Amino acid sequence: MDSITIVGGAPLRGVIPISGAKNSGLKLMAAALLSDQPLTLDRMPRLADTRFMAALLESLGVGVDWPEGSGTIRLHAAEIASTIAPYDLVRKMRATFNVLGPLLARIGHATVSLPGGCAIGARPVDLHLKAFEAMGADIVIEGGYVKAAALRGLKGASIVFPFVSVGATEHAMLAAVLAQGDTVLDNCAREPEIADLANCLNAMGAKIEGAGTSEIRITGVTSLHEARHRVVADRIEAGTYAIAAAAAGGEVRLEGAVGQHLGALLQAMRAAGVETAVDPEGVWVRRTSERFKPVDIDTQPFPGFPTDLQAQFMALMTVANGTSIIRENIFENRFMHAPELSRLGADIAVRGNEAVVRGVDKLVGAPVMATDLRASVSLVIAGLAAEGETTIGRVYHLDRGFERLEEKLQACGADVRRVRTGG
Ligand code: UD1
Repeated sequence: MDSITIVGGAPLRGVIPISGAKNSGLKLMAAALLSDQPLTLDRMPRLADTRFMAALLESLGVGVDWPEGSGTIRLHAAEIASTIAPYDLVRKMRATFNVLGPLLARIGHATVSLPGGCAIGARPVDLHLKAFEAMGADIVIEGGYVKAAALRGLKGASIVFPFVSVGATEHAMLAAVLAQGDTVLDNCAREPEIADLANCLNAMGAKIEGAGTSEIRITGVTSLHEARHRVVADRIEAGTYAIAAAAAGGEVRLEGAVGQHLGALLQAMRAAGVETAVDPEGVWVRRTSERFKPVDIDTQPFPGFPTDLQAQFMALMTVANGTSIIRENIFENRFMHAPELSRLGADIAVRGNEAVVRGVDKLVGAPVMATDLRASVSLVIAGLAAEGETTIGRVYHLDRGFERLEEKLQACGADVRRVRTGG
């Protein structure tokens, strides 16, 4: 199993190109199932998760053309060979569950294993299933599988989500584009990845309005056509490098990052005393002062502070000049990085969904273990800020979500190496 070794203390200086968003790319790939015509996606990040989704689509009969080293993937679901997504392929990554809606909408039935994914809480899919039921699907859960059928097609419906869910909003949208009649989704998530998915579906011929607001209106169409779409920039990757530059010191330009998608983070960074600037080509971050101020954060659905940057921000706050309070409101078990950060000398007390982080003068490198995708990158950030050497084990979590992480950091002067240990 690979590990990553970091010798901390070097400031980050340079330009970091931001990849396409993993969380968007995965749903865009699922959208290819909706049409018998090809879908070409540019700036698709080459990650364990996107490769995995490509393998699942192939198993369903989708032609996948993704040349080695290329960011352009061409998916062609001319015919669907199977409507079954088995446990082995779905358990590793929650987003694979998103094939259910498109299969149901196009073929009228599907059997998809209940999902797995990061160990950050229960993460049920009840809202997804209720949305399909509202569109007329019969749903049975049997032996760990969801069996869904709408043999005479899905019907447009009026759906009010009881709380905001990114996955349920996207999944309902994916199914409703081919439903008969109009669908209105209310209390939708407003994440930029949702507008990205709607833009791609509209390019394929769907009729979606309001994506990015809390009410999305969809007029069903009978078929979708060929399209080409560029995946939105990954705001979580951009935010992660912004925080890394603040923690390690230095100055980085995040090429391609969209400032408007990072509002809550940039506001928190400025409150801490980090300089930031936004222009149409990207985001610029600089930390000059020795110590920065503590800032409290509360994770919220977009446009609030993203839960996917909470671990990284906590890593930054471990060396702030004072005490900060970090509240996690989206997932119930998302502080697994706290004990690992403590191994580097951080002072963090977790009480329920609240972490009290008392800034220390410095962190000192140590061996640590990645626990989930975003938690593992918080350890990279802490390692960059720490004195001495930090070794992070179980980096397969990192490979799920960060494209060419070591390369991008090395290009900015960081001393980061991957140690391959086989297996
Ligand atoms: C997506 C992102 C993830 C991010 C999260 C919140 C992908 C692949 N993943 O996850 O990185 O952290 O949004 O921004 O895009 N819930 C239910 N029932 C449901 C659905 C959700 O109870 O049917 C709960 C979840 O357990 C969680 C909350 O709702 O507590 C929000 O989850 P949701 O927004 O759906 O997150 P995901 O789409 O799973």
